[in-house]
Amino acid sequence: MKLNNYINGSWQEGGGAEYTAVVNPANGETLCEVKLSGKSDVDEAVKAAKKAQKEWALVPAPKRADYLYEIGWLMKERKEHLAQVLTKEMGKVIEEGRGEVQEGIDMAFYMAGEGRRLFGETVPSELQDKFAMSVRAPIGVVGLITPWNFPVAIATWKSFPAMVAGNTFIWKPATETPMMAYEMAKIFDEVGLPPGVANVVFGSGGEVGTAMIEHPDVRVISFTGSTETGRSVAELGGRHLKKVSLEMGGKNAVIVMDDADLDLAVEGILWSAFGTAGQRCTACSRVIVHSSVKEELEQRLLEQMKGLTIGDGIDESVKVGPVINASALEKIHGYVEVGKQEGAKLLAGGRVLEDGSLKDGYYYEPTLFTDVKWDSRIAQEEIFGPVISLIAVDSLDEAIEVNNSVTYGLSSSIFTRDINQAFRAQRDLDTGIVYVNAGTTGAEIHLPFGGTKGTGNGHRDSGVAALDVFTEWKSIYVDYSGRLQRAQIDTE
Ligand code: UN1
Repeated sequence: MKLNNYINGSWQEGGGAEYTAVVNPANGETLCEVKLSGKSDVDEAVKAAKKAQKEWALVPAPKRADYLYEIGWLMKERKEHLAQVLTKEMGKVIEEGRGEVQEGIDMAFYMAGEGRRLFGETVPSELQDKFAMSVRAPIGVVGLITPWNFPVAIATWKSFPAMVAGNTFIWKPATETPMMAYEMAKIFDEVGLPPGVANVVFGSGGEVGTAMIEHPDVRVISFTGSTETGRSVAELGGRHLKKVSLEMGGKNAVIVMDDADLDLAVEGILWSAFGTAGQRCTACSRVIVHSSVKEELEQRLLEQMKGLTIGDGIDESVKVGPVINASALEKIHGYVEVGKQEGAKLLAGGRVLEDGSLKDGYYYEPTLFTDVKWDSRIAQEEIFGPVISLIAVDSLDEAIEVNNSVTYGLSSSIFTRDINQAFRAQRDLDTGIVYVNAGTTGAEIHLPFGGTKGTGNGHRDSGVAALDVFTEWKSIYVDYSGRLQRAQIDTE
């Protein structure tokens, strides 16, 4: 099968010359081919989106929202199919695939509700017979660049608020996961969105991404991906005075205090460290443990890790699927070597798995390091794989300091039964998301999603906050006094 772009409500073959194969990371099987588009495809998509946007912005928001309800229902109807495609394409285990599709469905219904809110403010004017209010105005054509690790959920976090607010969009999915974008484009098509409102252009970041950022008619770029790429997106976007929303890396920690429910902590750590094979921005990759429970925690983690079945995530009994590709395997293994050289103690894992049916896929053994120094590379840099580093501390203050020592600030978690410690931690942990007595993953779509410091640039996906990315505030004053009233001057 060959996938085509979806531009102006029709399927169009990209103008580029190169095809790339989409491979199932669980077994190396080729799933489809996709042509990498070029600048001319972006130009065409932007032209269509620009034309469509004028009318789309005039469609009453509750009516725009009706399309989102339809999209949500179709996604619900196709949940199992979408989850299967997702798992085959990027490897996360099927249960998580279903969860991710559910996240998209939730976003559809939540953002559809925004069609009847899109709240602005009304405020009293300082002058008589004058009315003052602010409304959210659409911005125009927006560009969405999404990653392979959450190929559907993250796309919904961006495209749904963009649409309901009256923008039209060009979406460039990751080259590794075009099938999910194709499935979504089919849904956009089936619900009868006006041509040009939703456009999907397949291709590389260098070509399609750059063309989107540089295009004068694309006013916003919303990007989720690596810190390295995000930095270039921001640099290029800055030069073109674009509004750029970035969601990038993480180095998330679970703190386990001496009074924690250790069984619960172990469950939370394993779920958030090895879910999606550790390839979540929110994945737990550090465990900051109170030294008095360190050994006990190590033992329990090791015990539970033995029970993790590794394999093709399409098999319901599998708990940890493959990583995305060979270069991911190489990067992860490279970090494990760095960890050993840095003197960390490898308690479990640390191998590329190639036995039996695993040999055709990209599998890494869930890995546990202990006695890791807080400032070592494996404790500071994002590995994006199933690797945990245990760091021992002696107090809550030290735990918080270690948590905050990294350049990232996405998610953090604390396991404790002490309410005072929990509240101090939620105040002092410098991350955009904090969990108490749960792992570092599992954000819900109706709260802002994003991080501090090097994780982002101050914007948020999800929740009402997402609307801030895709709208401009417009302040409106209506003077019904029939005379000139000068603000700040005619005050008496
Ligand atoms: C991501 O890793 O980029 O909280 C998104 C979570 C999911 C979203 C993760 N709801 O882990």
